[in-house]
Amino acid sequence: MLSLHKPYFIVILGRPGSGKGTQAALLEKKFRFEHLSTGQLLRDRMRKTDLAGKIIRKILHAGKLVPTPIVFQLWMPRLERFRRNKKFTGVLLDGAPRKLYEARMLDETLDFYGWDQSIVVLNLIISPKESMKRLLKRNRHDDDRDDIARRLAWFRTEVLPVLRFYQKKGVRIDIDGERGIETIHRDILRKLKKLGVK
Ligand code: AP5
Ligand code: MG
Repeated sequence: MLSLHKPYFIVILGRPGSGKGTQAALLEKKFRFEHLSTGQLLRDRMRKTDLAGKIIRKILHAGKLVPTPIVFQLWMPRLERFRRNKKFTGVLLDGAPRKLYEARMLDETLDFYGWDQSIVVLNLIISPKESMKRLLKRNRHDDDRDDIARRLAWFRTEVLPVLRFYQKKGVRIDIDGERGIETIHRDILRKLKKLGVK
């Protein structure tokens, strides 16, 4: 049985619109963990008008994946800051790692900082139909039908192997994401409590 200790690395994965950001925000409020939303970091980064900013903007507007080196460039200074903070108790990795080698690189990075791996992956499960329905209502820049379809397609090709990788490690917890926000939150809290997260 998986048992976690501080600092916790709580990865939240799921289809676009599965509620990763919503559930991460609730957990952040409850536990005061750091919230590392790669999607948000990239949306902030694309607002800079330098070359990288412009390329990131193009990729996000096309509903494609940003290359892993760029993602790590954004993560590393933050992870380093967490490492130096004596009060650091855990981080919510919302929507990442998104590719198998991102997952492997994350493992190596945790080792590098001497973080004995205490990782759990919350897999929020919703159907492609539900994903489309929620996002068409939301109105973010990448929420048109074609973009969502592309994000759903690479969820299948890139993220499902990541989910299998974590399942093999025995650290994946499946959560039915097609319930009310509060019900899902309580379910997650119950499951985390069993693993020793407090
Ligand atoms: P990211 O921002 O992570 O986008 P995403 O995976 O498409 O997911 P969303 O943020 O759209 O949905 P969510 O699951 O957070 O759901 P939310 O809580 O918002 O990434 C954006 C882009 O960045 C990617 O497309 C990619 O290009 C790039 N990227 C990101 N990470 C990367 C990485 N590691 N490597 C490379 N590229 C990367 O909820 C959605 C809506 O549903 C909201 O309106 C919400 O109110 C509603 N809702 C939530 N829960 C429920 C519920 N239980 N019932 C009903 N409605 C609900
Ligand atoms: Mg999100």
